[in-house]
Amino acid sequence: MWTVILLFTLFTQSTSSYCNITSLYPTQFLCREVVVDNISQSAVNCTSDRIVSVPCYPRRGVICGGVAYDGDTIGFYKNVTCRYVNGTRYHYGVALGLSVFFGFLGLDRFYLGYAAIGLLKFSTMGFFLLGHLVDIILIGLQIVGPADQSDYYIGYWGPVLEGVEIN
Ligand SMILES: *[C@@H]1O[C@H](CO)[C@@H](O)[C@H](O)[C@H]1NC(C)=O
Ligand SMILES: *[C@@H]1O[C@H](CO)[C@@H](O)[C@H](O)[C@H]1NC(C)=O
Ligand SMILES: *[C@@H]1O[C@H](CO)[C@@H](O)[C@H](O)[C@H]1NC(C)=O
Ligand SMILES: *[C@@H]1O[C@H](CO)[C@@H](O)[C@H](O)[C@H]1NC(C)=O
Repeated sequence: MWTVILLFTLFTQSTSSYCNITSLYPTQFLCREVVVDNISQSAVNCTSDRIVSVPCYPRRGVICGGVAYDGDTIGFYKNVTCRYVNGTRYHYGVALGLSVFFGFLGLDRFYLGYAAIGLLKFSTMGFFLLGHLVDIILIGLQIVGPADQSDYYIGYWGPVLEGVEIN
């Protein structure tokens, strides 16, 4: 039955007083794909709220919000979740490597921008090695990330443990 409805909406002109993602059927518009930055491997214009908005184009013949669309005109925007990465500055692999091999010196914490905790680890041999182990787990699971609230740079094939990777 849904197929029939979808085909019906696809091949008939339809009118809706609003133009948005809930007022139109999925077949009545196309949204542009998220543009992925080659260097950071994350969505261009991703905000610190982990949202990027992409334009959506109602198909030719769709009338909504009092406008007859031609298929090439932006009708509304759709929010997509994304990873908020500070370029390649905080590399997940580097952070984890520093944590495993130099965690007792606090180098992992310095690298991620937590200077105070880094100094504390440095002067206590990683909280007497307990903090060393705890930080390996926290960084390994990406519970602790960069101090600037950004996400780790991971690269295309890396393990993404939180957030959504945009392909
Ligand atoms: C979308 O349009 C509907 C009416 O069709 C309205 O009730 C709803 O609030 C609108 N949603 C947004 C996010 O603007
Ligand atoms: C990103 O890489 C693709 C293919 O590798 C290339 O076609 C595109 O031009 C690049 N974009 C930028 C902004 O460098
Ligand atoms: C990113 O934002 C700039 C400035 O608002 C805009 O000109 C550009 O088209 C946006 N790029 C993408 C891929 O959304
Ligand atoms: C998209 O997200 C922004 C906040 O980043 C919000 O102001 C806006 O209303 C959202 N748009 C839609 C269509 O949900």
